[in-house]
Amino acid sequence: MTDALFPEPMAILRIRNETADTFSFDLDARPRGGFRFAPGQFNMLYAFGFGEVPISISGDPLRPGVLTHTVRAVGPVTRALQGLKKGDVIGVRGPFGTPWPVDEAQGKDVLLVAGGIGLAPLRPTIYSVLSRRKVFGRVCIAYGARTPGDLLYTKEIARWRGRMDVQLEVTVDRGDPEWRGQTGVVTKLLRHFDFTPHDSVAMLCGPEVMMRFASRELEGLGMPAPRIYLSMERNMKCGVGSCGHCQLGPTFICKDGPVYPLTQLVRLMSVREL
Ligand SMILES: Cc1cc2nc3c(=O)[nH]c(=O)nc-3n(C[C@H](O)[C@H](O)[C@H](O)COP(=O)(O)OP(=O)(O)OC[C@H]3O[C@@H](n4cnc5c(N)ncnc54)[C@H](O)[C@@H]3O)c2cc1C
Ligand code: FES
Repeated sequence: MTDALFPEPMAILRIRNETADTFSFDLDARPRGGFRFAPGQFNMLYAFGFGEVPISISGDPLRPGVLTHTVRAVGPVTRALQGLKKGDVIGVRGPFGTPWPVDEAQGKDVLLVAGGIGLAPLRPTIYSVLSRRKVFGRVCIAYGARTPGDLLYTKEIARWRGRMDVQLEVTVDRGDPEWRGQTGVVTKLLRHFDFTPHDSVAMLCGPEVMMRFASRELEGLGMPAPRIYLSMERNMKCGVGSCGHCQLGPTFICKDGPVYPLTQLVRLMSVREL
């Protein structure tokens, strides 16, 4: 872990445009001996002169020499990150936050449900699960985006979909003339999967409304609430539980989250004005 409060400079090795407003970049972690993290954790990324934002790590935990993030440019800091080029340096603090329950999922079916940029924090879990494929039961991935042009990691999705040991379904809210796939909300995909709800672990990441409906659907299919995990987003400043910006009830998302079990969130969200 880097110093919790001081950004460590790291240079950009590669940049890939994923969609019109979303890009991934690899940072060179080799000079510091690699960067270790658990799937689901995030870093605070500092665009010098603009500010710092929390961004999930979207790369492969088994390749510690490169540290990958996928960013959707929505405001000043993420747009400043978008304007950087190979060789430029940014500041990194982290890794922070709670991970996805990948170990708990061993021996069980694994259900990953992503909406939009929510696939980025789940991608390290996919790498992790596929690298030890035999220790998990069935692997089901449901992914929804607004339009075909908003789909992330399309080449990898095609590769994962081509595997006999992965069930992967993609949907978009609105198709285009070339779109031959499914349209509609991601929740609809869950019924297509062949899995054993009472012996599965689900990990959900995306807009809160999507996670709310998807977790209801999973519970309706017979999945126990304590095995459903969600990743939450709130504005952050310190990332280490000191400033209170990311407070959710008595918890701080930066250190008690972002990954929470549904049972804990239901308790937190039922408290008014959270
Ligand atoms: C734990 C955690 C992990 C995150 N991981 C990622 C990630 O992997 N990739 C990524 O791109 N973003 C991620 N985010 C969101 C990211 O931190 C924000 O998009 C960023 O802080 C925006 O900063 P800004 O200065 O560019 O824009 P701001 O000025 O802060 O925001 C610009 C506008 O965009 C809106 N906005 C802010 N966040 C979002 C959002 N997530 N989606 C849509 N609109 C938004 C704001 O309400 C505002 O209207 C994560 C957030 C958290 C808390
Ligand atoms: S960001 Fe400061 S307490 Fe979480």
